[in-house]
Amino acid sequence: MRKPIIAGNWKMNKTIKEGLEFIDGVKGKTEGDVEVLICAPFTLLKDLKEATKGTNIKIGAQNMHFENSGAFTGEVAPGNLVELGMDYVIIGHSERREYFNETDETCNKKVLKAIEVGINPILCCGETLEEREAGKTIEKVKGQIVNGLKDVKPKDLEKIVIAYEPIWAIGTGKTATAEQANEVIAEIRNVVREMFGELADKVRIQYGGSVKPANVAEIMGQSDIDGALVGGASLKPADFLGLLKF
Ligand code: G3H
Repeated sequence: MRKPIIAGNWKMNKTIKEGLEFIDGVKGKTEGDVEVLICAPFTLLKDLKEATKGTNIKIGAQNMHFENSGAFTGEVAPGNLVELGMDYVIIGHSERREYFNETDETCNKKVLKAIEVGINPILCCGETLEEREAGKTIEKVKGQIVNGLKDVKPKDLEKIVIAYEPIWAIGTGKTATAEQANEVIAEIRNVVREMFGELADKVRIQYGGSVKPANVAEIMGQSDIDGALVGGASLKPADFLGLLKF
């Protein structure tokens, strides 16, 4: 049985004060048989981690560098996230790939580094609208997964969460139908199975792209979907709590 994981990705939103107000709004209401995670901007992480002590809310970052330290102005080292007790780090979100030149190769280095330092990576993948319309969805996603998981040791596979986020569904209000999402996610699991055999059944794969309280139950009801990575609808306490009811 794979434990569902609902993750909020706050992207570049909220001040420390707003983040703490959010935690106040959800505290004591998130318990259940689901892993609950918030991935916030770097400057909020320490305060959020402290504010969520004693709750089931886990805190994660949205990126990190793959080197331990060095002359990388403006980057954040894996050790700094360890220092803050981060549980997860998002790797290779499509916005990072599109605006900050993340490649499958850098994502792979980050996945391996996250595992090395003891933070669970959430590896993102997904196709553009053009790629979907050209029938290239599986090819695109397969490449991202095969390259992103290169050199991962079988014993570490379970620590990785995969997030399938069709780029055309992110922040657009257009959701892939639950069936469309499940179909691609089942294919992703097949790719992982080709690489790691039966261990693939232990890997949690989330869907992301305009998930909200109104559609979360249908999405989570699919056979291969184990969670959601949510942007817009993770920003308000009431919406976030709604995402946990599926
Ligand atoms: O990481 C989250 C995704 O980019 C989805 O964002 O829920 O605002 O569409 P969204």
